[in-house]
Amino acid sequence: MNSIKREKIIGLIGQNIQGSLSPQIHNYLASVMGLKYHYFLFDIEPFELKKAIEAIKIMDIKGVNVTIPYKSEAVKYLDEVDERVKKIGAVNTIVNENGKLVGYNTDVDGFDEMSYSKGITFKDKKVVLFGAGGAARAVLYYLKDQNVDQLYLINRTLNKAETVKKDFNKVIDNINIIEWTSEKKEQVVKDSDIIINATPLGMENEYQDISPVKSESINEEQVLIDLVYKPRVTKFLSFGQKKKAKIVSGIEMLVYQAVGSFELWTNQEVEYHVIDELIKNL
Ligand code: ATR
Repeated sequence: MNSIKREKIIGLIGQNIQGSLSPQIHNYLASVMGLKYHYFLFDIEPFELKKAIEAIKIMDIKGVNVTIPYKSEAVKYLDEVDERVKKIGAVNTIVNENGKLVGYNTDVDGFDEMSYSKGITFKDKKVVLFGAGGAARAVLYYLKDQNVDQLYLINRTLNKAETVKKDFNKVIDNINIIEWTSEKKEQVVKDSDIIINATPLGMENEYQDISPVKSESINEEQVLIDLVYKPRVTKFLSFGQKKKAKIVSGIEMLVYQAVGSFELWTNQEVEYHVIDELIKNL
């Protein structure tokens, strides 16, 4: 009985998540570290979210990741959230702490670790950020401590960008909103040092052939960071590749945010060589 009890269930709550790489990542970490954690996909419909979160307690699930489209809504069904989740308004990790559901956001750590491992620094840089959803908010949470020179926020829906600016303006005082359809957009991209895509543009299937920027706006001095991880080289990153700019795939952040979640569930530290192997083999 005890050995059965030691087996722990973890997983992912989201919609249309069959292509997710998370089971591969977490089950790999568990097996390399000799831990009996098993990761499952819980593909649910929006009306089932509240019940699915209740089920975490009832079925003694150790924890789950939360992904599109539930990162914001899930917050209201938790017993407790940390400061980051409050500020960002989005949760990507739930931990069942002895029957209490606590929400965390390891997307911030994912972005932080990815930047560190790639040697990317933001101090005094002009940064363009596409998107104003949960992922973009996690990036902003990280950037608030990086002393960027100017931050340009570009989102399809203008008022969402305005809300984000309002939510963050106490901690980042140099956010400039540029309209998605504005003529200035490509010039701003051209003049920037780092461009981050936190929208699904470029993702396999529906958005595969779309980039948030034009190829002409990219040069070799720039750093292009995509949060999309499938395909590894998106249309956006392919522009950077052609111009010999530095490019970073979303796979890096995906792995680092996963490591952050795994460490919260297991209380064990994942070693760097394990992470390197993982990124190489995915
Ligand atoms: P995530 O948690 O990944 O950030 P999200 O909160 O749903 O997901 O946010 C998705 C982001 O991608 C939003 O900024 C969204 O723009 P809108 O605010 O206009 O919805 C952006 N996005 C989604 N589909 C897009 C598209 N086809 N073109 C441009 N931006 C898009």
